[in-house]
Amino acid sequence: MREICLKTPSMTGKIYVGEDAVKTRLPVLTAGQKNFVLTDGNVYRLYPSFFRAYFADAEIFVLEAGEENKNFQSLHAILERMAAAGLHRTSRLFAVGGGVIGDIGGLAAALYMRGISCVQIPTTLLAQVDSSVGGKTAVDLGGVKNIVGAFYQPCEVLVDPTFLKTLPAREIKCGVGEIVKYAALNGKIFDALENNLDKFHDLDFLTDLITACIEHKARVVEADEKETGERKCLNVGHTTGHAIELAHGLSHGESVLYGMWLETKIAIEAGVCEREYGEQLLAIVENALKLQPLSTPDFSNIGRDAERAKSDKKNVGDGNIQTSVAKRKNEWTILSLPFEVYREQLINAAKEMKREGLVCFQ
Ligand SMILES: NC(=O)c1ccc[n+]([C@@H]2O[C@H](COP(=O)([O-])OP(=O)(O)OC[C@H]3O[C@@H](n4cnc5c(N)ncnc54)[C@H](O)[C@@H]3O)[C@@H](O)[C@H]2O)c1
Ligand SMILES: [Zn+2]
Repeated sequence: MREICLKTPSMTGKIYVGEDAVKTRLPVLTAGQKNFVLTDGNVYRLYPSFFRAYFADAEIFVLEAGEENKNFQSLHAILERMAAAGLHRTSRLFAVGGGVIGDIGGLAAALYMRGISCVQIPTTLLAQVDSSVGGKTAVDLGGVKNIVGAFYQPCEVLVDPTFLKTLPAREIKCGVGEIVKYAALNGKIFDALENNLDKFHDLDFLTDLITACIEHKARVVEADEKETGERKCLNVGHTTGHAIELAHGLSHGESVLYGMWLETKIAIEAGVCEREYGEQLLAIVENALKLQPLSTPDFSNIGRDAERAKSDKKNVGDGNIQTSVAKRKNEWTILSLPFEVYREQLINAAKEMKREGLVCFQ
């Protein structure tokens, strides 16, 4: 079991990664106070013996699975159940599931009695490499993702890669999207991915990769918990990725992969990203896009999709579109482009993507 420390002004948290993380830490963490568990219907059905073994005496709230349930109504129902169960300040919330459960569970823990202890037990690849670490919690509102939330650090994150054995291939691909994001920022992860994209079924390989991503994120969050500077690096691929996610209904991870490809291409052409390195990065993204399930979205309206990047939270109100892009190995920067330039470059990059057979124009 690996142990990673994450120290912020509000909390010193621990992240444990390994097949023994849950069985070593959960008996300790569940002892001595009232416990509340938030999970989703799929995870609850897949892991009955896990809930029986560790949470026999806990109050368990099973939320219906899906992003559409990451909303205020669910948050309200969860908080009501916490109150009805008589939770108090010393009680602890365990969020067992993917990023949806982690985000809404973390927010419920932050709000209840102005904050109770929270433990994240991520069960998807995306949640293990990314969302369970760093303390961003949120729900969606009025069709806008993560618009209401709080920074609230979990006291511990228990990452057990064996949960991934039941994860469908499309969810693995979703997590790979975030892993490739770390490859763009971290030379070690870049090297690990370059020749090994066929190894995602190998739990030892995945465990090393998950650990490396978490270590990277922990250092970034320590430097800039509230995303005023350094933490913006974690948005590589995300400005365009979010626009694609909204316009095409693709998964978050897959959209980030398309966003990474397009933004990297734009950065190469703008002379911001070193060409040789950028092309290696593009090859990693392409290989990830070719993982199952394959899709070939229609990017003929990418210029119109670009409009959605205007409402991105990262823009600073000067009319420019801000993208976080890799410059060279282990280096990134912000590329800020006037909207019309961004749109034009995006259309050009999408045409290149079509030539590579990764998207179509219908
Ligand atoms: N807080 C952050 O920093 C952060 C970062 C990235 C993404 N997010 C958020 O994370 C969410 C996406 O997370 P996600 O991709 O984990 O989605 P998710 O929570 O919806 O999980 C995806 C699917 O996998 C199922 N599942 C979970 N664990 C499983 C397992 N072990 N075996 C089989 N099925 C399992 C779930 O029931 C669900 O159907 C989004 O809401 C996004 O906004 C947050
Ligand atoms: Zn993401």
